[in-house]
Amino acid sequence: MKPVDIIVKKKFGGELTRAEIEAFVRGCLDGSFEEYQLSALLMAICIQGMTDRETADLTMAMADSGDRLSLSQIDGVTVDKHSTGGVGDTTTLIAAPLAAACGCKVAKMSGRGLGYTGGTLDKLESIPGLRTDLDADAFIRQVNRVGLAVIGQSERLASADRTLYALRDVTGTVRSLPLIASSIISKKIAAGCESVVLDVKTGSGALMPTHEESLHLARLMVRIGGMTGRRFSALLTDMSQPLGAQVGNALEVEEAVQILRGERGGALLDVSLALAESMILSSGLMHSQAEAAGALRAALESGSGLEKLRAMIEAQGGDPRVVDDTGRLPCGEVRTDVPAREDGYIGRIEPQDVGNAARSLGAGRYRKTDVIDPGVGVIVNKRVGESVVRGEPVFTVVSRRDSDTAEAMRLLERAVTVSPEAPDPIPLIHEHIGPDDCAGRNRGDEFA
Ligand code: URA
Ligand code: CA
Repeated sequence: MKPVDIIVKKKFGGELTRAEIEAFVRGCLDGSFEEYQLSALLMAICIQGMTDRETADLTMAMADSGDRLSLSQIDGVTVDKHSTGGVGDTTTLIAAPLAAACGCKVAKMSGRGLGYTGGTLDKLESIPGLRTDLDADAFIRQVNRVGLAVIGQSERLASADRTLYALRDVTGTVRSLPLIASSIISKKIAAGCESVVLDVKTGSGALMPTHEESLHLARLMVRIGGMTGRRFSALLTDMSQPLGAQVGNALEVEEAVQILRGERGGALLDVSLALAESMILSSGLMHSQAEAAGALRAALESGSGLEKLRAMIEAQGGDPRVVDDTGRLPCGEVRTDVPAREDGYIGRIEPQDVGNAARSLGAGRYRKTDVIDPGVGVIVNKRVGESVVRGEPVFTVVSRRDSDTAEAMRLLERAVTVSPEAPDPIPLIHEHIGPDDCAGRNRGDEFA
């Protein structure tokens, strides 16, 4: 089986066999495909698409290309959540403790990756002392004892994905439904959870900005996940503006703590509750949405969600007192407001610009080796649709020095539009996609 024959077959829209797909994935690891051949095949897949069967075979071959974690030593059904990524997207730090307080066994592996702000790992590591490099035994013990653990993803999980993602990034082949789905699902399969709740974002700040493409991605991932024998479900949620009101690592931990203390609500809480509800239902712990919603409200009101977060922080070596006093988190000393230029209604807050502003301050990475400053970021004081008067601060930049803020101020000025009339409201949660909602929708043309 020569690489060039597989490339040509896909170039003309052929359906690859399992053996051909396995040869491709092996080729990432043993050098039997040159990088230019991998790149050519990625481009052919990007343009021609894959059937569900090909995508599932690619997913399993990638899951088998590195270490696989066995979570069979965890009592009960293990559950993970995964977001396709967004700005102010701190749902893990809220949904995971609340779901654990309701009895879920949350075993979450997070990637670090590049991004506007750090990933969940970077947010957690802004808590003094907290470690995310637990080994598999410690991870399993902690999930059994506390009900949740969030650790860094091993470099050896789905090894082929590392090679492929790096090539996709520089060959214009990131945005492909089968390539995204196989990349995400293979890592979830290798990480071992029995059920997975996906938060697929839609809107200008999402991986797939259009509603249609995001919905296709969500349905595809739920179907492919199901074909591998695990329980996958998904929510399609809004990322047309930042989800939380604080963007930046310690700032996001602070907001999560305040939400779990019952001191603030809003869109971030609403999406977190919906995700936690899906985690409870897909674990099979409860069987109706109303029952799960009631249990979650009780976990929020009694503070048992907050106590789960405290227990997790303590188990991972962090300072648990941050949940009582967020003043223990690192925080830049300088605050600079970005005022509204006119009276009216907030018409748009562009998540990419807010994310890039936070990154320019040091909250995110441009290169893998960049060191994050956990204490800087952007506070978003308004949401789309709210009224605003000229001079009122729309954003507050949190930085170390005045001289660090110029680029952030420029991006934030650009991020917001004020309109004379309130815009039509955009739904926060567009769809719930369960395993039964996408059966039979396996037309190849949906994923081109
Ligand atoms: N996240 C992933 O892990 N893989 C992709 O391909 C896209 C987003
Ligand atoms: Ca189990």
